[in-house]
Amino acid sequence: MTTSAPLSPDAFARGLAGIVAGRTAISSLEGDLRYRGYAIEPLARAGDFEEVAFLLLHGELPTRAERDAFAARVSAAARALEPAVIEALARLATACPSATPMDALRTGVSMLGQIERDALPGSREALLTQAERLLGQVPALLAVWCDLAAGRPVGPWPDGPLAAALLQRLTGRTPPADHVQIFGTTLVLYAEHEFNASTFTARTIVSTGSDMHSGITGAIGALKGPLHGGANEQVLEVLAAIGSAERAEAWLAEQFAAKRVVMGFGHRVYKDGDVRAKLLGTMCRAMTGGDPGAEALEQLAERVESLMLDRKQLKPNLDWPAARVYHALGLPVAVFTPIFVVARMSGWTAHIIEQIGDNRLIRPLSLYCGPAARDYVPIAAR
Ligand code: COA
Repeated sequence: MTTSAPLSPDAFARGLAGIVAGRTAISSLEGDLRYRGYAIEPLARAGDFEEVAFLLLHGELPTRAERDAFAARVSAAARALEPAVIEALARLATACPSATPMDALRTGVSMLGQIERDALPGSREALLTQAERLLGQVPALLAVWCDLAAGRPVGPWPDGPLAAALLQRLTGRTPPADHVQIFGTTLVLYAEHEFNASTFTARTIVSTGSDMHSGITGAIGALKGPLHGGANEQVLEVLAAIGSAERAEAWLAEQFAAKRVVMGFGHRVYKDGDVRAKLLGTMCRAMTGGDPGAEALEQLAERVESLMLDRKQLKPNLDWPAARVYHALGLPVAVFTPIFVVARMSGWTAHIIEQIGDNRLIRPLSLYCGPAARDYVPIAAR
């Protein structure tokens, strides 16, 4: 008995490219990038992550009072990380010295799910509370992991906006206002991007009736890959491997000959350049001007950009300038993708709530390409 008619090979899109897999009211890439209808440029220039996270979760920009109350709840969650999770991460740091901050976040969120599920039912209000708590807990987890991995005592979560607090925890210094501003801009730019691989993973997981923390745990795993969020860490390795603008041409030729992709370039949706990369690239050059070391890196980046455009007609994506900004802020490479997690937590949780609010199981079809029908041979006769 067959369950459906054979599929036409034309029905198949490799990597789901170009397939509309659902509806969302959270962000749009049609024409330009907008969060809940607002163009990305002014949101990014304001650089207020809490404002954007509120917008993504609640659908409207907050008033000052709403924003401050939201930020206070997120900050309270960051300060009140469950000791059981810290203890578990401490054991992980000792037992697995090779564990990365991304491993620690995935494990930590999974543990938080165990604790949160005991306390909260699954209503929309409860989901919003879980989302707000995750927005604070995850950057705190990252900071705790960095302390543990370095063998330091776990420090307290500082007061103030999330961008300033996280930057302070990760660098060990009170950051100047211009550093907080551009770091906040990167969080806003990384916050949301409709049906990217990790968001789609999260939506698929909760479409089965599973819980928010399972969706986020899966999303972190999806983001980790170098074709998605992991690219921002690899960008710095690319720049380090090339070393200088003079070596760029030969280095790229080697990559092309070996059919290797160059991290930080290309995008599944933006075929004529990523608006976020353009915006942050300009800010990065303005920020690093006057510092000879950083200027040399910018010259190298510009050379790579022009060669990629000339040889491959490819433009940079957001990870290309974001990696340089994080490097200029004095952040270690191992926290680049985890910072993306901190920011995208806002988009992921908004999508999970949207999916649960209007759910239908996500279950696509596949085009069979295996052996033709054949008869089973009992094991004794093989
Ligand atoms: N470097 C070199 N070549 C690249 C490339 C890159 N960064 N990105 C795409 N290409 C090539 C592809 O190999 C392909 O070549 P082919 O036609 O000879 O096979 C061609 O350009 C078209 O690729 P496309 O179909 O547009 O890519 P995709 O939509 O399947 O993949 C990415 C999109 C993002 C996965 C891909 O561009 C990539 O791997 N980029 C590097 C990783 C990265 O920066 N990821 C972060 C994304 S925000």
